[in-house]
Amino acid sequence: MNIAGMINPEQLQFFLGLLQLEQVKISEEERLDYASDETENYVFPADVVLLPNNTNEIASILKYCNAEKIPVTALGALTGLSGGALCVHGGVGLSLERLNKIISIDENNGQVIVEPAVITQVLQEECAKKGWYYAPDPASRGSCSIGGNLAENSGGPHAVKYGVTKDFVLNLEVVLANGEVIWTGANTLKNSTGYNLTQLMVGSEGTLGIITKAVLKLVPLPPFNKLLLAPFPSAENACAAVSAIFRAGITPSALEFMERDAIAFTLQFVDDVQVDLNGVEAHLLIEVDGTDESSLMLECEKILAVLEKFEAGEVLFAEDHEQKEKLWKVRRKVGEAVKSHSIYKEEDTVVPRFELPVLLRGVKEIGSRYGFQSVCYGHAGDGNLHVNILKGQLTDEQWSQELPKAIKEIFELVVSLNGTLSGEHGIGFVQKEYMPIAFNEIQLNLMKQIKQVFDPNGILNPGKIFPSSHSI
Ligand code: LAC
Ligand code: ZN
Repeated sequence: MNIAGMINPEQLQFFLGLLQLEQVKISEEERLDYASDETENYVFPADVVLLPNNTNEIASILKYCNAEKIPVTALGALTGLSGGALCVHGGVGLSLERLNKIISIDENNGQVIVEPAVITQVLQEECAKKGWYYAPDPASRGSCSIGGNLAENSGGPHAVKYGVTKDFVLNLEVVLANGEVIWTGANTLKNSTGYNLTQLMVGSEGTLGIITKAVLKLVPLPPFNKLLLAPFPSAENACAAVSAIFRAGITPSALEFMERDAIAFTLQFVDDVQVDLNGVEAHLLIEVDGTDESSLMLECEKILAVLEKFEAGEVLFAEDHEQKEKLWKVRRKVGEAVKSHSIYKEEDTVVPRFELPVLLRGVKEIGSRYGFQSVCYGHAGDGNLHVNILKGQLTDEQWSQELPKAIKEIFELVVSLNGTLSGEHGIGFVQKEYMPIAFNEIQLNLMKQIKQVFDPNGILNPGKIFPSSHSI
């Protein structure tokens, strides 16, 4: 048998000897099933997709690929937005889909041990049954997996109070590039023992090792929450209200910003929700949670007083669980709605939250100079603004030649505001050429040296994170 690309028949034979036939996907149709994530419209099929059953099989695959210098790209649920799981150099697509168990929920310590392919929402629901809360909740939580969340250090709306994926990780089982298996830390909340290998793995996008088990911490499930939707006649005012809410002494459990078009596009997809957009340029979706309903009401009153100062219109209080779900559905579907509206590029800018109005103004100004429309929304409480740039009327040439210059300007602005390129989507394939805006030679070289220690042959997810000027 002869297959295209990096893998020769002898190497394929090795995989067929190691695994069962149904664990080795070689037909074009099967490989295409694993060739794209949610990033724009890229298609990069691996030469072969392997579906190992356990850590041992992964260790054998890596040991062999390392010796043979075959690229290996870990594949999760393929919901990523920076192309982290695209097999841009072919080789092996290592699907972790069979490692899909919640191994144990430790109710006494508030910890869970999971395999990477557990769907985030499934984990949340299983923990909730026992009174525990796993808070990181990317918009795709119904389909994304914990392994991908770890690889990209995903966030989501509730990160603003509870933290992002990294803040919930205690210990990881990792298969190294040479096939050795390690645990990175300990199952403790505190740990000052040597270098923090656990946190080095989180967000490393499959370039330093393959995570095969994770020990995650949980927090007690807050029994009550209140959800408010506040309209604003000015998007900059909505952004300015964000830091003022914290200044008033409140830490909301979610504080989301949606520009007018973010909601307008989404309402075409969700038929059971109405939001009045008359005279409205943006909304804030604000949630508070806790153990005592009356103190939540007091917090809401304080928030309303802040909103008034920023000229918010009539604030909607979600009345019941159903209405809350509907509002969250609108918020979670924005990305999908924008994607089906137009070809687009998604930037995951993040700045200190007080700088949000400056960032928004700057993005619009750059857009008007380069002639593109953008739809902005995101986790305003974290200063994390998703800037979706629509292709709209731009010619193919403007899209491919001019737009990167505009994106560079956006990132330069972000960095000048003490922010950075990605808050939660990762650098992956699509943002890597912008890395020199955030990091200088010294910093990039340090990262490169770390990569070389973990993966001297450069087999793990090549073509990611590092700009071409610094590729391994
Ligand atoms: C969201 C994803 C795109 O916040 O991060 O909807
Ligand atoms: Zn997001």
